[in-house]
Order: sequence, then structure tokens, then C-alpha cells
Amino acid sequence: MERVLVVGAGQMGSGIAQVAAQAGRSVTVHDVAQEFLDRGRETMRTSLGRLVKRGQLTQEQSDAALSRVRFSLDLEAARDADLVVEAIIERFEDKARLWHAVSDVAPESAILASNTSSLPITRLAANVKRPERFIGMHFMNPVPVMQLVEIVTGIQTSEETTLAVEAEAKAYGKTTVRAKDFPGFVSNRVLMPLINEAVYTLYEGIASAEDIDTVMRLGMNHPMGPLQLADFIGLDTCLYILEVLQEGFGDPKYRPCPLLRQYVQAGYLGRKSGRGFYSYK
Ligand SMILES: NC(=O)c1ccc[n+]([C@@H]2O[C@H](COP(=O)([O-])OP(=O)(O)OC[C@H]3O[C@@H](n4cnc5c(N)ncnc54)[C@H](O)[C@@H]3O)[C@@H](O)[C@H]2O)c1
Repeated sequence: MERVLVVGAGQMGSGIAQVAAQAGRSVTVHDVAQEFLDRGRETMRTSLGRLVKRGQLTQEQSDAALSRVRFSLDLEAARDADLVVEAIIERFEDKARLWHAVSDVAPESAILASNTSSLPITRLAANVKRPERFIGMHFMNPVPVMQLVEIVTGIQTSEETTLAVEAEAKAYGKTTVRAKDFPGFVSNRVLMPLINEAVYTLYEGIASAEDIDTVMRLGMNHPMGPLQLADFIGLDTCLYILEVLQEGFGDPKYRPCPLLRQYVQAGYLGRKSGRGFYSYK
């Protein structure tokens, strides 16, 4: 694929644009306001600068990657895109509206991919003209660092689309796995119950947050304990995904721990708010 449109210049979108540009793609990043585009460009510049400092990239390669990225407030950029990757806010109505608009403009041959971490791909695909060309491309945060892309196939996604997106992710230096379109895919289906159980263990006074994380780090060789990881992801995001799992499967085993809910109500959202299971002041 030559031309990639990334919609959403946030944390994920800027990372996706960066790895696509590093792979030689001609990239356009679209967002709704200039300030978001500027912030996205800055994030990309900082991230590439870090790679240069570490000797993983030459200054010329970094400059060349940046020169391949255009920033645009106009969705017309979809007109000649081979691949559109959407990484906007995780709200179904917003994504549905956006995909309608993209589908009106993009060529029939374009592959349409959402980076959603929790919304059903099949339901999103109902908003485009060619659902067989719609797929989930679930990058992990931070995109330039994390190896995995979870490829999520909706019920109508074609094998041709899946193969093309797998090849594209590999060209970005990523490893892919396929997951069918059910709540949480593989990543959050396995991770969120672990985090939730860690919160229950804290809630029931079995051990302190530090000790729960130490057990998982030193006993199970996890690089980060589940409570520290939850703070990193955002406790509001964890709660939301657990609710998606609980509702999607109708199974009480996904019931979010009341302590998690209470923390979110108190505004303890993790790193981003300065306090979660740990304090970041
Ligand atoms: N942050 C993570 O750890 C993570 C990991 C995997 C997947 N995701 C998914 O990636 C997506 C983006 O997450 P993020 O963390 O980058 O969010 P973010 O808030 O950092 O960025 C979202 C960007 O989308 C823009 N936007 C919102 N509505 C738009 C529209 N209609 N058109 C164009 N741009 C629009 C916003 O202005 C913002 O710049 C979400 O679907 C999220 O679930 C996030």
C-alpha cells in the first residue's frame, strides 16, 4: 500500500502515522482541529528524535519519515487512500459518523481499518459501503515500541482484506495475530479479568497494591504488575472495557470490582490524573 490516511492525531494515531512513514508510506494525518494536528506532529517528532538518540535511526531516516507525513483538516485526503486507519475517540456514534463520511469519499479498493480497543468491528462495518473491506487493526500503546498488532476480523471481512492488512502491519515491523470479533478480542479478554482480579484482591484486603504487583512481577515474570498497568492504561478505560465484556457476554464473571468503580468516581484515573492505585505527584 502506498498512501495511508490516519484519522485522529492523538496518542495512537500519531504513532501509527510514524510507523507507516518509517515504512516508506506516504501518510496523511487528519484531525478536527489544527491544535490536535500540531500536537500529533510534535509527538511524532519527539518519538523519532528518541530513536535517533538511541542510534536506532539516522537523522536522515528520521527527516525522511517526517517529510512523508502531511497534516490535513480535510477528509478529502481519503479520496486517493489505499488504507484508512481510524484512531479517533472510543465512542460508537463518533466512529459511525466518521466511517460514513470516509466511505463516501474513499475509493472502492481502499481498506478501512479501525484501531478500536473495544467496539465490535462488525457493527462499525455496517456504516461503510463495502463491509468486506473493513477490519480491526488494533495497535498497542506506544505504537512505535510495541511489537503486536491484533487483527480483528468482522463477520463480513474478506480473507483478501485480512491478508493485505497482515502484510501491511509486517511492513511496519509488527507481528500480527488474528482474533475474531467478540468482546475484548484476545488482548482485553485476557488482560482485563486479570486486572479486575488484582483489584478484588486489594479490595478484600488480601495484600497491598505493591505486594500484589510484586507477586506478579517477581513470581510470574510480568514486566509490570497488574495494578501499575491499570494505572498506565487509565482506570476509566479499564472500567469501560470490563463493562463491554460484561454486557457483551452477559456473564457475571466480568463484573467490575466496586473499588475500581469507586476510584473512577473519585477521579482516581491512574497516571493521567496523578493518582490511581499509586500516587504520581
Ligand atoms: N491509548 C491506548 O492505550 C489505546 C490502545 C489501543 C487502541 N486504542 C484506541 O485508539 C483510539 C484512539 O485512542 P487514543 O488514545 O489515541 O485517543 P486520543 O484521545 O489520544 O486521540 C484521539 C484523537 O482523535 C481526534 N478525533 C476525535 N473525533 C474525531 C473525528 N470525528 N475526526 C477526526 N479526528 C477526531 C481527537 O481530536 C484526538 O486528537 C481509540 O479507539 C482507542 O480505543 C487506544
